[in-house]
Amino acid sequence: MTASVILGAQWGDEGKGKITDRLSRTADMVVRYQGGNNAGHTVVVDGERFALSLIPSGVLYPNVTPVIGNGCVVDPAVLIEEMAALRARGVDPSRLRLSANAHLIMPYHRKLDMVMERFLGKQQIGTTKRGIGPAYMDKFSRFGIRVQDLFDPKIFRQKLEVAVKDKNKQLMKVYNQLPLDVDEIADEYLGYADLLFEHVTDTSLLVWEAIRDGRNVLFEGAQGTLLDIDHGTYPFVTSSSPTAGGACTGAGIGPTAIDRVIGVAKAYISRVGTGPFPTELHDEVGEKMVQIGGEYGVVTGRRRRCGWLDAVALRYAVRVNGLTELALTKIDVLSHFPTLKIATAYDSLGERYTEFPRQQRVLYNCHPVYEELEGWTVDISEVRRYADLPAAARRYIERVEELAGIPVTIVGVGADREATLERSPGE
Ligand code: GDP
Ligand code: IMO
Ligand code: MG
Repeated sequence: MTASVILGAQWGDEGKGKITDRLSRTADMVVRYQGGNNAGHTVVVDGERFALSLIPSGVLYPNVTPVIGNGCVVDPAVLIEEMAALRARGVDPSRLRLSANAHLIMPYHRKLDMVMERFLGKQQIGTTKRGIGPAYMDKFSRFGIRVQDLFDPKIFRQKLEVAVKDKNKQLMKVYNQLPLDVDEIADEYLGYADLLFEHVTDTSLLVWEAIRDGRNVLFEGAQGTLLDIDHGTYPFVTSSSPTAGGACTGAGIGPTAIDRVIGVAKAYISRVGTGPFPTELHDEVGEKMVQIGGEYGVVTGRRRRCGWLDAVALRYAVRVNGLTELALTKIDVLSHFPTLKIATAYDSLGERYTEFPRQQRVLYNCHPVYEELEGWTVDISEVRRYADLPAAARRYIERVEELAGIPVTIVGVGADREATLERSPGE
């Protein structure tokens, strides 16, 4: 049995939900380690679509204990609603475990996310406005309120009073907003305590016990490598660590516990929100990717920016995450393009870059150097064995492997759970 991290190798929305669900068939535990309800993870089962935001994508399997780790930020109203929505569709979320140390997203976080973005004007990040950044700001400035505080009303109230006093100053004096009321927030949040009580535990211990007992544990990343607070395209990033190291701090395990690190990458690439994007296409090819790939955000419904696969960024993801393998998704979308391109280097400000540039200025001025590959232009969505893919599709996948330097062990040919090819070594 193994512990595997499944994470985004690009700017999010790579299909992590689908791959996590697929690997959950034989898993005992699936742990989210960072982010919050900025994530939108889609799982499609026999045509039925589930969009998960906080609850790990393994929840659909009765053999899986879904865990929300300490590294996550939790909007309790959203979590309760997500559990109710699953229940209404016949999925039992009662096994869900929630870290007592996870931080809460509070109403002032959502409000601040909104007004801070407005204040940034043209420089805005294009956040999901779910309060993620402000909640992590409070965590790191030690103003945060944690899940465990819900169960100690006196402490909760004390912390809330300090926080609200500070936030109201900001909201009123900097952002010209109405102040928030402590009593109202306390009533609302303490009301969630009963509903969450049975789920809250020491998840670091729970995960450690599962690993110790040889269970199959998956760690499901949200967002992606290029949205990582340290390794992403800062400041156009999220406020947590989606990269593999985040699984250790965000779940409370050591790096020696992890056996596999699976990077999920789309066969092309997309990004929502603002920020640099070297292979972005502003032409009809990009538009075709959006339409055929259905590239609209799960959380905000925003149109995703699309472009050709970027092997420079992919190699970077392999490096900073120590990826052991890749899951290449949405290769079926490429069936509609007679010629395919992969960026293998960037030209920027008179220099050629084969490693992901460390300077924002360089990144903004990048012109990708493309390699062209022949397409296959036949429908592959019903293919279920790697060997049955057209030769050109296999060549494309094998070229991605060469460029990334690691094997592609899973290939996605459709949104449905079953539209997945798992490759055995040497295939
Ligand atoms: P996540 O955030 O990484 O879990 O990805 P999202 O769910 O936000 O976006 C991925 C989208 O692609 C969803 O609509 C999935 O249903 C869909 N999808 C995932 N894998 C495949 C695939 O192999 N082929 C196709 N056509 N769609 C896929
Ligand atoms: P999943 O898990 C794609 C982007 C936002 C914005 C930036 C910061 O579904 O892949 P935030 O609200 O986190 O402060 O926004 O990060 N972003 C995502 N983009 N997929 C996601 O999640 C994202 N979560 C946040 O669009 O650019
Ligand atoms: Mg998503």
